[in-house]
Amino acid sequence: MMLEGKRILLGVTGGVAAYKAAELARGLQRAGARVQVVMTDAATRFVAPATFQALTGEPVFTDQWDTRIANNMAHIELSRVADAILVAPATADFLAKAAHGLADDLLATLCLARECPLLVAPAMNRQMWLHPATQRNVAQLVADDVVILGPDSGEQACGETGLGRMLEPQDLVDELADFFAPRLLAGRRVLVTAGPTYEPIDPVRGITNLSSGKMGFAIARACRAAGAQVALVAGPAALATPRGVARTDVRTAQQMHDAVMSALDAATHTDVFVAVAAVADWRVANPSERKLKKRGAHDAPKLEFVQNPDILATVARRAGAPWCVGFAAESEDLEANGQAKRAAKGVPLLVANIGHATFGRDDNELLLIDEHGSRRLPRAGKAQLARALVAEIAQRIPSR
Ligand code: CTP
Repeated sequence: MMLEGKRILLGVTGGVAAYKAAELARGLQRAGARVQVVMTDAATRFVAPATFQALTGEPVFTDQWDTRIANNMAHIELSRVADAILVAPATADFLAKAAHGLADDLLATLCLARECPLLVAPAMNRQMWLHPATQRNVAQLVADDVVILGPDSGEQACGETGLGRMLEPQDLVDELADFFAPRLLAGRRVLVTAGPTYEPIDPVRGITNLSSGKMGFAIARACRAAGAQVALVAGPAALATPRGVARTDVRTAQQMHDAVMSALDAATHTDVFVAVAAVADWRVANPSERKLKKRGAHDAPKLEFVQNPDILATVARRAGAPWCVGFAAESEDLEANGQAKRAAKGVPLLVANIGHATFGRDDNELLLIDEHGSRRLPRAGKAQLARALVAEIAQRIPSR
């Protein structure tokens, strides 16, 4: 599990998003963490401490003067045993206090007395978020090594729309997992392709496939969390760019090929290339410059195709090629076909999707095929599989 054995002190401050902190506490626990909740007085107006107590099985602390901890030292004790403090939601008031080192309640005091990292998930009205005072406080917190998670943009409880929504609980769990991820690829440079390609037939029509890009984006994110410098070349995919990843958007296989080659040329050295994109094998030979018109029932257009360059095979053949990972969608004889494809592409590792219809789903099941044979990564979320794959890659790549 992603947060196995971690002790997380979850600070809840007084914003409407406090109700989502209950789901967050559950999510952290499901990921293996032990959760201790501390609430501000204002937070208890939104959610009762009993909710968190029931969910976490731990007493909830709200008060500096709580006598349940020996020596009246709750502010020291609680932060000493934590691996991280996560404040979610973090109000504008809390950010101001933390930025200035105030210590007028238990949570603020804990943040000041801590030795562990502090992560905060701001949640507030968009004007409050954009106010220069809040932005100043956030800049100060960043300078003090506090990790700011979000906020997101969208519909707000007050009816307005804009920046200031707290990240969703699962996103926060994933952010925390990234934060604790071992830096297995520190100092490495990784290039990833993801998503489908789109091959035009005419200005409004084209040929594409059902790849959502989720697996490739998850791999880019996991490589980044493992400390790598990551470039992502993405076909049309409606997904947010993972934090800290340099993304280039393309449409066609030829554009993806060109973007990959320029990324390789621009970097002095790329350690790993992970080809996750579902690249169209063919494109229409002569796409029409005008929209094709219907003429008669027996006059359907006849399309001619030419083959696209094989990006992965081309990269694998380059002089000083990065260590290459290919993906494959095989419907039968997974291992034999996978080995054949691995050899044909000339790559050390091929990852086969097990089963059909993985496109667009949030989970997957993979078979890793290398020169020694195969190894299964059992069904799991794509984020978790991506982390497992990063560990496999890190074990196999040559040291520098
Ligand atoms: N690939 C690529 N460029 C292409 C085609 C594929 O880089 N023009 C990469 C994909 O990103 C993936 C792997 O090669 O890593 C998949 O190879 P491919 O032969 O296309 O596998 P399948 O899609 O499974 O194809 P086939 O129908 O030939 O079995």
